[in-house]
Amino acid sequence: MKRSTLCLTVCLAVFAAIHQSNLQAAQPPNRPNNASQARVELDAVTDARALPDGIQIRAGEAQLRITALREDIVRVRVSPNAQLPEDASWAVLPEARTKTVAVQAISDAAAVGFRTPKLDVRVERKPLRLVVRDTAGHVICADALGRPTAFKLGGFTVAKQMPDDEQFYGLGDKTGLFNRRDQAYTLWNTDVGPQEATDPLYKSIPFFLAITHDRSYGLFLDNTWRTWFDFGKTARDAYTFGSEGGPLDYYVIYGPTPKQVVEGYAYLTGKPPLPPMWALGFQQSRYSYSPESQVRDVANRLRADKIPSDVLYLDIDYQYRNRPFTVDPDRFPNFPGLVADLKKQHFHLVTITDLHIAHIANQGYMPYDTGHAGDNFVKNPDGSEFVGVVWPGPAVFPDFTREKTRAWWGGLYKQFAQDGVSGFWNDMNEPSVFDGPGKTMPLDTVHRIEEPGFRTRTATHAEIHNIVGMENERATYDGLLKLRPDERPFVLTRATYAGGQRFGFTWTGDNSSTWNHLRLATQMLLNLGMSGISMVGDDIGGFNGSPQPDLLTKWIEMGAFNPMYRDHSTIGSLPQEVWVHGPQQEAIRRRYIDTRYRLLPYIYTLAEEASRTGLPLVRPLFMEFPGYYDSADSEFLLGRSLLVAPPSLPDMLDDYAVSYPPGPWYDFWTGEKMPAQRTGPNIVQVAETVSQGQSLSQFPEPYTIHPTLETLPVYVRGGSVIPMQPLVQSTDETPNGPLELRVYPGPQCEGSLYLDDGHTFRYKQGEYLRQSFTCRAEAKAVTLAFGAREGSYAPWWKSIEVVVYGWQSEHAEVKLSGSTEALKTTYDAKAHALHVVIPDVAGKQELQVGR
Ligand code: NOJ
Repeated sequence: MKRSTLCLTVCLAVFAAIHQSNLQAAQPPNRPNNASQARVELDAVTDARALPDGIQIRAGEAQLRITALREDIVRVRVSPNAQLPEDASWAVLPEARTKTVAVQAISDAAAVGFRTPKLDVRVERKPLRLVVRDTAGHVICADALGRPTAFKLGGFTVAKQMPDDEQFYGLGDKTGLFNRRDQAYTLWNTDVGPQEATDPLYKSIPFFLAITHDRSYGLFLDNTWRTWFDFGKTARDAYTFGSEGGPLDYYVIYGPTPKQVVEGYAYLTGKPPLPPMWALGFQQSRYSYSPESQVRDVANRLRADKIPSDVLYLDIDYQYRNRPFTVDPDRFPNFPGLVADLKKQHFHLVTITDLHIAHIANQGYMPYDTGHAGDNFVKNPDGSEFVGVVWPGPAVFPDFTREKTRAWWGGLYKQFAQDGVSGFWNDMNEPSVFDGPGKTMPLDTVHRIEEPGFRTRTATHAEIHNIVGMENERATYDGLLKLRPDERPFVLTRATYAGGQRFGFTWTGDNSSTWNHLRLATQMLLNLGMSGISMVGDDIGGFNGSPQPDLLTKWIEMGAFNPMYRDHSTIGSLPQEVWVHGPQQEAIRRRYIDTRYRLLPYIYTLAEEASRTGLPLVRPLFMEFPGYYDSADSEFLLGRSLLVAPPSLPDMLDDYAVSYPPGPWYDFWTGEKMPAQRTGPNIVQVAETVSQGQSLSQFPEPYTIHPTLETLPVYVRGGSVIPMQPLVQSTDETPNGPLELRVYPGPQCEGSLYLDDGHTFRYKQGEYLRQSFTCRAEAKAVTLAFGAREGSYAPWWKSIEVVVYGWQSEHAEVKLSGSTEALKTTYDAKAHALHVVIPDVAGKQELQVGR
């Protein structure tokens, strides 16, 4: 073993003394709190003790504790010394972290470990190597041979075996490619406008999925320090991860499907709350609409042009000298009046409230005076308040790891809440400090952890940096809940950490108005979703610069199928609202925003599913079709049923082929059933058949798409029931007309609908509506089965328009079960769609459509 025992003993003694004391002062600059100069490697098991839920191992001086939280989730904690790190977490829910399952111990000459009903967890004795297998003996996740877990200078490195066919996803919204394989990343929240390969970025989500063609698992490294992940950029056969400090504490989450992994991760770190429905409407923003008259002009124009919309934003220029929680009296002389007028026009106002509090004492600036009086700001090592320059000039920063500070911060929203502001935007919370090293605080600034579940102590910024954004978001969310207990808070944050999904929405930051950034957005949103963060969006049209007309149009088309739909742009850029570039462009854009509103029953149902399961709204194809990796990175699914398939480069003029997973698939716009393909899943079969001497011509030509400005290719999975509603101009408006149920026959045909009042918590008392649907297609009939409706929420519709796609003739006999009455139908020959309007169906019933 390569280490100096003397140095190690001394260093460990010093570390233990520091670790155990309730630290009064900060750590020395840049020095992780378990700093030991000597290298410690876990090279052999020297002792092992079975635990009811796992195993405790010694490897020389080092400790390894592996426990099963569930049959399919294993936690690994490692320390270079006798003391395991503090058992606390900002990310993992206490109820998940303290859960245990009984395991069956394994101990033989080669290994020690345990078994759960789903996993076989072994630590090979020498060389020491953790290997997790499924019960059939397939290796899921294993330490790399010859690369023991090692600690040095307070940090650590772990190396895992990397099969040739293993692909990696997650780590939040990193730029670059969709698949993280062969790339390396740093997690350190940073205020930087992302370009094609900028890293690190605003968020740190140290969770990834590792996927081979038939198995997947997730790995979550619960460490808030600066961490890094290298998926084979440096080595050929191993991926590595590590940190410059803090605990080595990670979770292996077994699938085998990617969906199960994401659900397992959400079990650990939480699910997004059910958002207010208005947050899923169209949002118009700009840095900045100011003065007040500009906001009114935008509101009036949106309504005059019949652009459905729900949200307007005020960026920093509504404030007095950029001071958070103020309003500029000259530019916004009647702020509550403005909020009330916008409400009358059915707009929700979201205002920015950055975390940097202007450093102005005793001049009537309440946030500073009350914050200072309550000792709520981050400190320098000498105990003075840390001051750094941001928008307001010199500013101080709330110490969000104190429960008391979060409560104080939450209270700052009182006036805005009373004024009727609907939601809040927490920007710059990496935290961004213009004159700080690396554009943030010095690493030796001092935070205090005063938090249930944690040992009360101080911590350096090196430890806390990556969670400032999340704790800021949490303070805002909790504060709003306290101020308006029956309203669902809307919080939009830029920086966050694993678990941030519990408090609100996020977006990908300062993108640019280029075609390439439109392309990048898809993989960033998909990877955020796989990292537990479902409620996500990007600045539609691009933040930096001004989009060309066609680019803005395409971006608005794509955004209609993303979870959050916000047009936003920077100061000094050209106007970027829907109507710029003339009526022709506006008409196309309106059609997509209209579609978004028509699809809200489907989208809101997905948001509710996310709040129960943690499953994202936008999904890569392999999430719904495990093993299906043939799609272009530009393709994605909204929910289980809608496939959005732009060309791989969004400005491409050439024809291209869409790769469809096993279908059938229907064109969302025309209703047409798509022909079978020579691409996608068929390609292997095609190649095999051709190699056996058969002709390629027996397979249909690939269906190619000619890209046009006005059409974003969208397809519906055969086997879907999609709920839609009549067009409204905002979510405040009650739709007028029947609920539409579009039935696309195919395998495992199903759909569901969730509805409630859209903004309160009354759904928790049963005031909601949930209904599921299935359909069966036979040679000459289609049956739509309604499940019994759950919940007491009364729907807005009195009738349902059922539309059956793939119906080949005008002739149809349609009956509702329990009735002999033949129902009147209409037939749309172009779409091959049969329409029938029936009275609302709340109970279990079947609609039989026969030829
Ligand atoms: C940076 C944010 O990313 C951007 O969206 C915002 O407009 C500016 N700050 C000004 O507040």
